[in-house]
Amino acid sequence: MNEQEILALSAQPYAAAVSILSQEKVVAGKTVPNRFVYQPMEACDCELDGTPTDLTLRKYLRFAEGGAGMIWMEAAPVTVEGKASPRQLMLTEKNIDAFAKMNDAIREAAVKSGNKVPIIIFQATHSGRQSKPNPVTVCSKATLEAVRPLSSEYIITDEEAARLPEAFYQTAKLMKKAGYDGYDMKSCHGYLMAEFASAYNREGLYGGAEFEKRWRLYLDCLKASKEGLTDEILTARLGVYDGYADGWATNPDLTPDLTEPKRLISIMAKDYGVKLLNVTLGNPYYFPHLNRPHRGKNLPESPVQGVKRFADITGELQRSQPDVDFVLSGLSYLGSAGADYAAKQIEAGVAAFAGFGRMTLAYPDLASDFMKTGKLNEKKCCITCSKCTELMRAGSISGCPIRDPLYTDIYRRDVLHKNV
Ligand SMILES: Cc1cc2nc3c(=O)[nH]c(=O)nc-3n(C[C@H](O)[C@H](O)[C@H](O)COP(=O)(O)O)c2cc1C
Ligand code: SF4
Repeated sequence: MNEQEILALSAQPYAAAVSILSQEKVVAGKTVPNRFVYQPMEACDCELDGTPTDLTLRKYLRFAEGGAGMIWMEAAPVTVEGKASPRQLMLTEKNIDAFAKMNDAIREAAVKSGNKVPIIIFQATHSGRQSKPNPVTVCSKATLEAVRPLSSEYIITDEEAARLPEAFYQTAKLMKKAGYDGYDMKSCHGYLMAEFASAYNREGLYGGAEFEKRWRLYLDCLKASKEGLTDEILTARLGVYDGYADGWATNPDLTPDLTEPKRLISIMAKDYGVKLLNVTLGNPYYFPHLNRPHRGKNLPESPVQGVKRFADITGELQRSQPDVDFVLSGLSYLGSAGADYAAKQIEAGVAAFAGFGRMTLAYPDLASDFMKTGKLNEKKCCITCSKCTELMRAGSISGCPIRDPLYTDIYRRDVLHKNV
């Protein structure tokens, strides 16, 4: 599909889209009631100890009431040092009951609103370079240091890294107890695990030229996580292309080189039984156009080009690993054409699921609206204005100030009038 065809979709609704997106699918023994995946969207609205608040719950209840087939919950660090913001979601022995209650409430809300019960995925992370107050890096990265220099004292040692599999294992056990359906061993967006992928100039156990060394820690963590699960889905939000000179899976001309991602995915499927992968691209802190195609001035490429890259890369990976179900990302830019487009991609074998990120904050009932009426309401769609990201970067709580009035005042207070 070329750029013109993608754009033309808004004028040509796809008749078969409702039946494609409404179809249930069994993944690793669990039934996902439809193809709408509500992507992880960090909101920084929890208590200081990581316990979800009423606001955290509100977002997920709206997703359940909106007909989500899968709710992929926002990033939650496995150690306090790995937190990206003071109010990030974090599951511990002390607050596990609040998480269990939240999951029960999500399932109850889905049933009460006449929807099927969604699959709920937990996303486990370590924020690495974005950890606050103290960043943790993997090696020196010329492209990243040029923007925000971090000295070698922030580099994680092999001994510290070797303790991480235990932390991921403990979190996997807790999330199982809290009633999640699946566990995402996250590696993307330049966070700690993803940085090891391109640790070409790191010495020791976890870096160097060899693929086996750069992926050793991640696979150790995946193995440890699996030991904490029984019948839950083991999955990953996997960044498969960094798109900068010293990044992963990137050719010298900055085009994608999927040789290593294919090798990794094959290992994950064969040796660890991974049956579901949520593909993502780029590092949102440095190259947001690769990660979330958006409107704006002076963009390095057309946002449609960004949407197309997601489909090209995900499709190539899906075809190379047909026994794994892939989630397609980066759909929000297409607005009301996003669901029709996603259905075409699923039909063409590019992915099994349609993942919506920013669109879910703007339009939480997008799935039920589309399945009932065959179209998305233009007036409710995300306009990819990046205000939700601005809120996060301002250290505030994040939501959609455009479509959700609750956040309009917060945006005025914490972004527009911050220094007034
Ligand atoms: C405010 C905000 C928070 C996000 N939080 C997460 C997160 O916690 N975990 C994650 O894997 N991706 C996160 N993302 C990325 C989205 O899941 C998604 O991949 C991205 O927005 C592109 O999809 P879209 O075009 O549908 O928005 C976040 C994006 C935004 C804008
Ligand atoms: S703030 Fe803008 S980009 Fe974010 S969800 Fe709302 S409309 Fe979309």
